[in-house]
Amino acid sequence: MNDWIFPEGFLWGAATSAYQIEGSPLADGAGVSNWHRFCHTPGVTHLGQTGDVAADSYRRGRDDIRLMREIGLNAYRFSVSWSRILPTGTGRINRPGLDHYERLVDALLDAGIAPSLTLYHWDLPAALDDRGGWLNRDIACWFADYATVLVRALGDRVPFWATLNEPWVIMDAGYVHGVHAPGHVALSEAPVVAHNLLRAHAAGVDAFRAETRSGQVGLVVNIEPKYPARDCDADLGAAARADAYMNRFFLEPAILGRYPEELAPIFGADWPAANIAEAAALVRPLDFVGVNYYSRNVVADDPAAPPLRATRVRQPQNPHTELDWEVFPQGLYDALAQVRATSGELPLYITENGAAFIEPITARTDPLPDPRRVDYLRQHLRALHRALADGAPVRGYFAWSLLDNFEWAEGFSKRFGLVHVDFGSQRRTLKQSAHFYADVIRSNGEALE
Ligand code: FCB
Repeated sequence: MNDWIFPEGFLWGAATSAYQIEGSPLADGAGVSNWHRFCHTPGVTHLGQTGDVAADSYRRGRDDIRLMREIGLNAYRFSVSWSRILPTGTGRINRPGLDHYERLVDALLDAGIAPSLTLYHWDLPAALDDRGGWLNRDIACWFADYATVLVRALGDRVPFWATLNEPWVIMDAGYVHGVHAPGHVALSEAPVVAHNLLRAHAAGVDAFRAETRSGQVGLVVNIEPKYPARDCDADLGAAARADAYMNRFFLEPAILGRYPEELAPIFGADWPAANIAEAAALVRPLDFVGVNYYSRNVVADDPAAPPLRATRVRQPQNPHTELDWEVFPQGLYDALAQVRATSGELPLYITENGAAFIEPITARTDPLPDPRRVDYLRQHLRALHRALADGAPVRGYFAWSLLDNFEWAEGFSKRFGLVHVDFGSQRRTLKQSAHFYADVIRSNGEALE
């Protein structure tokens, strides 16, 4: 025994998302999604790569579950592809799509792995995008109807439900910078999209509560703590603006019923008074908050960088991942402290945490050595343990990701998996990090020593 033991019943999981692992995007009557369409637009993803095959998990669910058992996971976070269930987004249900997820859930339960289902991890039916997507207020109803279909089918079997994954990324990457579907570059759309995401989240929670008395529902946000580069008012202000825009934009309205004050000056005339007036109506009692943590940001005041007037100051003294994300385990502790200041004693889950590293494969070694990922995991789990010891109400941890997969606009160039996937043969090989994580799980933390 040592001091690294985690609480009894702690969830040890790994996470994935539908478009990133499934492949077969049009199989069995599925409709086209915005991501399918986006990836098939020339020049938008790394080398024009798509999720057409990805990790082929749509057809290899049993293999994936075998891997989960090998690692000893007791929970698995995955997302459902909306356009497999409702090919045009609303109306007709595509039974084979629903069957697919029913089989997945049943197989997880048979394996003793708790399913944690995310309703929306960025793939929207293209037909809804054609109707304005997240810019259309009707999307709250579309989303609630979709949630109703799934909760009716799986509400009795799935213990953990999340409405949206990282709404901030949907807004910022999809509508402000155009690097994700639907590829818009329009800062003025951000407040509209944000508000509709929050309205959809609330409507999704209502649909969930109307259909089931069992299970828990929450929201998953990405938190990247912001620290001022220098201890001066200008940089403190920059950090506060960056924090409001990224970390508090969704959490505060969803839990406290108000948008952060810093947002109005960031958007100026594009900040709709009506949204502020309606913010109180966005609050729903939640069962948990999911926190995705990867990195932090040190920022300095920069009047030449609108609209936030803040720039990142790279920290060369610390290691960085292949995405140039700084490795900063203390940030996980700080992210939890920050969320807790808003969500109080609401249970928290780390719903994603991990690192992109490409390790040279010189021989077919099994397991594949990935020492930097092992170190990342160890350091972050230790930071999580410290947070727990200081009273953070964290109930589980999900590593991102079970498998190497399709990293959105980065294509297959960034590998986050505990399990290596050879995308030619679809051969899966456990990395050393998978074995390390298995040891941590088996010893309930002791292996962190
Ligand atoms: C998160 C996403 C996830 C994956 C990781 C690396 O923002 O939720 O799908 O891309 O980043």
